[in-house]
Amino acid sequence: MADQYAQTRQDNRPAGTPVIRWEEPPEGPVLVLLDQTRLPAEEVELVCTDAPALVEAIQSLAVRGAPLLGIAGAYGVALAAARGFDVDDAARALENARPTAVNLSVGVRRALSAYQAALAKTGDPRQAAPAALAAARQLHQEDARASARMAEHGLALLDELQPGGGHRILTHCNTGSLVSGGEGTAFAVALAAHRAGRLRRLWVDETRPLLQGARLTAYEAARNDLAYTVLTDNAAGSLFAAGEVDAVLIGADRIAADGSVANKVGSYPLAVLARYHHVPFIVVAPVTTVDPDTPDGASIEVEQRPGYEVTEIMAPQAPVTGAGGGLPVAPLGTQAYNPAFDVTPPELVTAIVTEEGAVSPVTAEGLAELCARSRRS
Ligand code: MRU
Repeated sequence: MADQYAQTRQDNRPAGTPVIRWEEPPEGPVLVLLDQTRLPAEEVELVCTDAPALVEAIQSLAVRGAPLLGIAGAYGVALAAARGFDVDDAARALENARPTAVNLSVGVRRALSAYQAALAKTGDPRQAAPAALAAARQLHQEDARASARMAEHGLALLDELQPGGGHRILTHCNTGSLVSGGEGTAFAVALAAHRAGRLRRLWVDETRPLLQGARLTAYEAARNDLAYTVLTDNAAGSLFAAGEVDAVLIGADRIAADGSVANKVGSYPLAVLARYHHVPFIVVAPVTTVDPDTPDGASIEVEQRPGYEVTEIMAPQAPVTGAGGGLPVAPLGTQAYNPAFDVTPPELVTAIVTEEGAVSPVTAEGLAELCARSRRS
């Protein structure tokens, strides 16, 4: 599969360069992605020429984060259509690349149904292909707009909870422009607080084992001049105990109909800590992350990742000594428990903020109303 990737080094890419883009060189359309596994050390782009290459990029977390997975999935269908591959096969492979973030299947299905509708009309796969691309582009733009509105609603909620500002926000994983058509979800709220002069500190959980916090959120915070501090996930408890956290803000990979929230593993312990310390625990996610077909938390499939992600440090330049090619931090052959996500029950979530507004307290009825509002708008 490696020959389907061309890699280009792009250190110091200007801020605002999209993390995913469609290009049409003479050899045929391609999808260009910023490889998030190489950040913050290097800015390297991957050029995907077919869906299997994109599936590999999704599974290796080169492209990741719920909203971006949706956008990537939609462009992946468009790529298969534009290059004349079997679109149904590509859609199936993309949709199944990772199980937890519902946005992936939302994105794939949107592009696929646009393609199928055009195919039914024209009977010609070549003429139908642009419909898939148009759907992917539309989803990309909608996500950017949703991001801006989540930032507004999220900051309004923070200000309501703590009038006067000076917010000290703890976040987990990575939820900024690296995962979105815009400025992201939870990170976009922190950014809005910073721009309004009301962010005192962004506490960034390192987010073991793949360090999306330390590597990616810190990268985004530094590029935007936020006052931020990275901590090990284990240090969060003492930070709460010291009274240093005013709110927890996280994103989500799937929100069940009852308001249960699947997000990066380590989110649930933060919710428990937040409840004990009377700190608001706020989830920021677009309506596309709410899955009315998943009734509750127990019905959410949590992705299990390879154990070597835990038993090795994945530095690419580390000696190739373990199964994952990283530096072992446990004896070879050690088994590891490595769920990529955990599920927080709705009663521990203070509010879910979407582009359509916030729901608080979190109830199935409140969420259903937000989804209905989104369908009307
Ligand atoms: O495994 P990842 O890095 O794809 O997990 C991402 C997360 O858990 C994010 O917090 C979530 O997708 C929300 S992104 C706005």
